[in-house]
Amino acid sequence: MIIQPIIKGQVAKSCHPVGCAEAVAEQIAYVRKAVPIARGPRKVLVLGASSGFGLASRIALAFGGARADTIGVAFERGPSDKGVGSAGWYNLIHFSHLAEKEGLIARNFVGDAFSPAMRRTIADYIRDEFGGSLDLVVYSLATGVRPDPQTGELIRSTIKPIGAPARGYTVNLEKDCLEEQRLDPASDREIEDTVKVMGGEDWESWIRFLRDEGLLAEGCQTLAFSYIGPAVTHAIYHHGTLGRAKAHLHQTADRLDGLLKVQKGAAHVVVCKALVTKASVFIPGLSPYLLALFRVMKAMGLHEGCIEQMQRLYAERIYRADGRIPVDDARLVRIDDREQRADVQEHVAALLAEMTPENFRSIGDYDGYKGDFLKLNGFGFDSVDYAGDVDLALYGAC
Ligand code: NAI
Repeated sequence: MIIQPIIKGQVAKSCHPVGCAEAVAEQIAYVRKAVPIARGPRKVLVLGASSGFGLASRIALAFGGARADTIGVAFERGPSDKGVGSAGWYNLIHFSHLAEKEGLIARNFVGDAFSPAMRRTIADYIRDEFGGSLDLVVYSLATGVRPDPQTGELIRSTIKPIGAPARGYTVNLEKDCLEEQRLDPASDREIEDTVKVMGGEDWESWIRFLRDEGLLAEGCQTLAFSYIGPAVTHAIYHHGTLGRAKAHLHQTADRLDGLLKVQKGAAHVVVCKALVTKASVFIPGLSPYLLALFRVMKAMGLHEGCIEQMQRLYAERIYRADGRIPVDDARLVRIDDREQRADVQEHVAALLAEMTPENFRSIGDYDGYKGDFLKLNGFGFDSVDYAGDVDLALYGAC
């Protein structure tokens, strides 16, 4: 089968298995040369392990110095008569293949991390085959929908402002243009539902479950990811429905920290840099900011992708030689420090003030943004022969 990129709006409808292998290999090559994670964990569970920060965490922890055994949980589709499946499916396969070649355990579970059955399966696996306990649980799910834990009814998150409407441009990756969007403020129900889906409730229930099962080692840590961003993004993010969900996540970290302290562990929220991932391209109004940010940070030699962020996080923040985890006044780990620098934001604001639907490709780093999106789906690698035949039968199992 010959596979070409198919993009509909912000969604990739195809992905390239060989390109996904290249994307994983590139990230591994980066962490092998980076500052190593010297005091890292040995046994790690990553929830949301197939792309973005979760995949990058797994790669950093396995190949970036700690040599961690990992369990990866993700919701992905394999190849079928309906299509080639999702990039995350192939990322899981390639990661595990390479980690196992290094003598590491790298077990994948594909399915719904919200379901009690998945929890039970993972707990049994940890107890029976993974050494019985975890040193780190990374919670990196990003999703628009979650079944209600009580009723099973699907709850959906929305990305909307709160209190007042917001206007902003969004990149249409299919048509390579900027489109103006007006978003009405969220209703109380929409706010509540977004907090249910993207807040800390599920993270907390995973950690309590694993603790009650006796599967968290002494000193076990847990992390989840958040975004704050500069004022120009606040209407749609920090002060909007997603920001509300993140505020709930931050409060959850404090509760979980109390719980884990009893066994010398800790829980933290890590505030990351804005990046192109499968999830973030959906956030209305964020893309012009990303275009400007990428242009500025690349020009200043400060740009990072998911893998650079995660390697720096574990090597220089979470597993430092002095055992300290530096946090801000709100107990947040700030790996968005370079994005938030005043000089970066000053340049970004200047570019945004000039950006229009006519000039966004020259003012902002559109090629970088779209290139990242294509790479997430295995396209745009010079080393891959995209005219070549791909045998999907090779990728039937994760
Ligand atoms: P992503 O879309 O790249 O990855 C999401 C992961 O969650 C995938 O592995 C997917 O398979 C998994 N997943 C989704 N629903 C699932 C389910 N029901 N069961 C099992 N797995 C499921 O997302 P990204 O961007 O890496 O986001 C991870 C976290 O980082 C989120 O909390 C996000 O808010 C946060 N973050 C993202 C930023 C960005 O710019 N992308 C910036 C700062 C924070």
